[in-house]
Amino acid sequence: MPAYTPPPLPSDDKRWKIVNGTMRKNGYARHALIETLHTVQSSFGYLDDDSIRFVARSLRVPLSQAYGVVTFYHYFSLKPPGKHTMTICSGTACYIKGTDKLIAAAELRLGIHQGETTKDGNISLTTARCVGACGRAPVVLTDGELVGQMTQAQMIEQLERWAVE
Ligand code: FES
Repeated sequence: MPAYTPPPLPSDDKRWKIVNGTMRKNGYARHALIETLHTVQSSFGYLDDDSIRFVARSLRVPLSQAYGVVTFYHYFSLKPPGKHTMTICSGTACYIKGTDKLIAAAELRLGIHQGETTKDGNISLTTARCVGACGRAPVVLTDGELVGQMTQAQMIEQLERWAVE
């Protein structure tokens, strides 16, 4: 049987690489559906039609099945995210370098929990398991842009910049 060639990533946003990594690790097998949708949720903060379609197509599952999973579990959100998204890597390497403190500081500054969006719809705070840049830990994605060796001061500064936009 010829090797399976998955569809191209929807865009060059780094978070798609994380999503694709989950599927690749599972050999693009159908049983990876829930885990992959979880990865989309934790990377982007929500799922939209495009991401659900991409996952369904990549894993070759019917779109109705993918939607069925998303609407069945309360964990999944179809709500649009904020204008900006701060995604903090909580993988082991980043955790050791203190991303738990970054997450706590961001939650405090924004007054929301990870996976949520500020009331004004401006900023979503999400976490990812490992974005594949462990050598640059702690890693944060600001609107999909990877920033390594992120300090708390730098992260708060970014949040402040977004807050006044
Ligand atoms: S654990 Fe954060 S990039 Fe790997």
